[in-house]
Amino acid sequence: MPKSSASKPNQSALSGPFRTIAADRPLSGHVVIPGDKSISHRALMLGSVAIGTTRINGLLEGDDVLSTATAMRAFGAKLDHIGKGQWEVTGLGIGNFSSPANDVDFGNAGTGCRLTMGLAAGSPITATFIGDASLSKRPMRRVLNPLIDMGLLVEPDQKETLPLTLRGPERPIPISYRLPVASAQVKSAILLAGLTAPGETHIIEPHPTRDHSEHMLELFGADIRSEQAEDGNHVWLRGEKQLTACDITVPGDPSSAAFPLVAALLVDGSDVYLENVMSNPHRDGLFHVLRQMGAKITSKSERRNAGEDVFDLQVMGSRLHGIDVPASIAPSMIDEYPILAIAAAYAEGESVFRGLGELRVKESDRLQAIADGLNANGVDARIDGDDLYIQGVDADSSGVRRTQGGGRVATHHDHRIAMSFLILGLLSQNPVEIDDASMIQSSFPEFFDLMHKLGANFESCDA
Ligand code: S3P
Repeated sequence: MPKSSASKPNQSALSGPFRTIAADRPLSGHVVIPGDKSISHRALMLGSVAIGTTRINGLLEGDDVLSTATAMRAFGAKLDHIGKGQWEVTGLGIGNFSSPANDVDFGNAGTGCRLTMGLAAGSPITATFIGDASLSKRPMRRVLNPLIDMGLLVEPDQKETLPLTLRGPERPIPISYRLPVASAQVKSAILLAGLTAPGETHIIEPHPTRDHSEHMLELFGADIRSEQAEDGNHVWLRGEKQLTACDITVPGDPSSAAFPLVAALLVDGSDVYLENVMSNPHRDGLFHVLRQMGAKITSKSERRNAGEDVFDLQVMGSRLHGIDVPASIAPSMIDEYPILAIAAAYAEGESVFRGLGELRVKESDRLQAIADGLNANGVDARIDGDDLYIQGVDADSSGVRRTQGGGRVATHHDHRIAMSFLILGLLSQNPVEIDDASMIQSSFPEFFDLMHKLGANFESCDA
C-alpha cells in the first residue's frame, strides 16, 4: 500500500485522472466546512440588485460561484474581492441591470445561470447566456417557461439549451405559478424576476425545496411570505420594493460536508469533527437517511447564521445497513445521491433509492453515472425506471466490507461524481480511478486539502 504522507496532491495541478490511496488507518481530525454554494450564489446576486454595499464573509470561491461573480459584473454591479471568502458587493437597485457587452459565460454553474435568468427577466436588457459542455446540455425551458409568461423573450424561441439570448421586458408581469418539477432554481428565478413586477408573484410548490432565496430575500428587506398548505408550499412576493444591502456570513455547505462525513463513516475507527454545517430542513435528508442506516452522527453547537441554522457534526466509523429511500425525501437530498450510493455499496444488504428522475438532468446523467461507476468497480447496481438498486458488498471474516475497485470512472464533467468515486476507493481492494478531477474546483476547491487533513489521500494517475 503506498505511503499516505507522500500523496498530498499539488493544489495547482488537480486536473486529469486521479486515484484514491486506500485508507490504512482511521480518519480523524477537525475541519471547517467551506461556504454553501447555493447561499454564495444568492448572496452575490441579491447584493448586486440591492441598494448599498453588501459585505459577505465565507463566500465559497469555487468556479461556479466565481462565474456568478463575473456575470454580476457584466450586468453592471460592482464586486470587490477583499480577502479569502470576503467580498463587498455594491448593488444597482432592482431592475437596473445593463446589457453586457459580451456573451455571459456561466461555465458549469446551473444555479448561477438559471437564477440570473430570473434577474435578466426583471430588467429591460439583452444578454446571451453560454456555458460549458455540461451546462449546454441541461434543460432551460423549466426556468424560461414561467419567465416567458412574465414577459421575457428568448431566442431561438423553441430551443431548450444554451446558448440562448434573453430580452427582459420593460416591466415583468406578476404570475401565479405551480411548479411542475421540484426545483429551487425554478422557484428562485421566478422570485428574482418578481422583484420588479408590479403586484404579487405567487408560487406553489407541491414538493417543497430549499428555501434559501426566501430567507435571504427577507434579510434584504423584500416583501415576501410563505405558508405551508395542503396542496404544498405557497410563496408570495410583492414586487417593486427596493432591497437594502446587508452583511452575510455564509454557512458551511452540507452537500460538501457529505463527502468527509461518508468517508469517516466507512473507515472503521474514524472520529471526525465537521465544523460549520448548515442545517436546513430542505437540505438535511442525507443525515436522516444515514442515521437510519446505522450511522453514528452527533450534532453539536447549534447556532444561526445568515437566516439559516448551523451546527457541527461529530462522525464515527459505523457499520451501515441497506435502506429503501422513498421518492418523497429526494428534494431534501437531491445533490447527495452520488455519495449516498457509495455508502450503500459498503452497507449490509440491498439499498433502493426511489424517484430519481431529476438526477438525469444534473451536471451529468447522475443516475447512469452512479450505476456505471459502481459496476466498473465490482458493485452490483441497476436502474429500474427512475429507481436505483445497489447491493452492498459482502463483509470479510472480520466484518470489513471492501469493494473490488480497479475501475476507471467516467465523471462526465460532474464534480459530485468525481468526489463520490474518490471516496469509494478508500476501502477498495484495487485503486479506484476517476477520469478527471478538475470539476471538483466548481464546488469544493478545498476537497483534497481537507480530506488530506483527515488522513484520506489521492494521487494523480499522471504523476
Ligand atoms: C440548487 C437547486 C437544486 C440543486 C442545485 C442547487 C439551488 O437544483 O440540485 O445543486 O441552489 O437552488 P434544482 O433546482 O434543479 O433541483
